[in-house]
Amino acid sequence: MRLDRLVVTDFRNIARAELQPAPRLTVLCGANGQGKTNLLEAIWLLTGGKSFRGARDAELIRRGAEFSVLEAQFSADGRDQQARLTVGAKGTQKPGRTVRLNGADRGRAASIAGTFTAVVFDPNHLSLVKGGPEGRRRFLDAALCQLYPGYLAASRRYLRVVAQKNALLKAYDITPGGDVLLETYNEALAGYGSEVMRRRAEYLTRLAPAAEANYRDISRGAETLELRYCPCCEPGSPEHLAAKLREMRSAELRAGFCLTGPHREDLDILIDGQPGKIYGSQGQQRSAVLSMKLAEASVAGEVLGEHPVMLLDDVLSELDDARQTYLLTRIEDKQTFVTTCDSAAFARTNGRLVFVEGGSVKE
Ligand SMILES: Nc1ncnc2c1ncn2[C@@H]1O[C@H](COP(=O)(O)OP(=O)(O)OP(=O)(O)O)[C@@H](O)[C@H]1O
Ligand SMILES: [Mg+2]
Repeated sequence: MRLDRLVVTDFRNIARAELQPAPRLTVLCGANGQGKTNLLEAIWLLTGGKSFRGARDAELIRRGAEFSVLEAQFSADGRDQQARLTVGAKGTQKPGRTVRLNGADRGRAASIAGTFTAVVFDPNHLSLVKGGPEGRRRFLDAALCQLYPGYLAASRRYLRVVAQKNALLKAYDITPGGDVLLETYNEALAGYGSEVMRRRAEYLTRLAPAAEANYRDISRGAETLELRYCPCCEPGSPEHLAAKLREMRSAELRAGFCLTGPHREDLDILIDGQPGKIYGSQGQQRSAVLSMKLAEASVAGEVLGEHPVMLLDDVLSELDDARQTYLLTRIEDKQTFVTTCDSAAFARTNGRLVFVEGGSVKE
């Protein structure tokens, strides 16, 4: 996957900017508030996804304008393609996000998901290490949804039955036939849940070694990262999960809600053998998340046959010189965009340096 040209009009603080990215590393350099993250966000929108900052359409359109337009030329699927994405304000002729792909009207921007793919690191992703298990499950699920179309359905069905079972457990004593209903729910949970667990386990056998190798490289072999899936029981077969649910039956009745299953699992992130959340320094935590994100991209590349573009926002802060140099020089073979406030970055990178100032782009 390679972005060859991007023209941005009336997007965020950018009136008009033309970006000619390098095939490998492009460093977007500029002071705070100049439009670096805005440019990454524009590239990300071409994936058909929501804004990684969770922004609404009105926030994306430059104040005072009615439409934002993103015109991109990229190479995907072995050929050159063009996308034109518009974000229209409410009340205009074309409100919301719509897209034309290779000249054909494709309606909603989400309809082209999978055409142009990217993986983004934004500082909020540090919660992967610092935050609770929910964020780590979301990371796994989001990656799996992109790789396997059936995963979203299995995980949604599973969560729906969890909600139904929770309602039953709460009112178990006053529900006639509650025991039969509970059996039915547990059977459904074992089916959908084991599918979710099988995919997660499979995914981690690919993700973990890649992330661990990235961490070794970033730390120049000085430290180790270890990712360990903590399943609620042996993953893979509905029987194992069914047995676990039977084992937990009376405890769940006492508690009044579901106590076990993939919706309560976690992923241990160990730095030098210790939990990264508790013992990791800021730079180590950042390096760990970055290693995981780069690994996410390479697994997606293996599964989908094309390596996604990497968008690394504000990834250099808190990293020491050696780690920064690694990022500014070593990420070579996959197209990568890195933002930085460090005006001396030019001396340390072999990538293409682009200056961003007041929403304009200068090389
Ligand atoms: N819809 C909009 N219209 C006009 N300006 C906007 C809009 N949305 C955001 N901005 C402006 O864009 C600027 C922020 O740009 P951006 O987040 O890309 O900065 P940055 O270069 O990444 O800075 P930092 O180094 O601090 O992360 C802010 O000044 C903000 O006011
Ligand atoms: Mg920024």
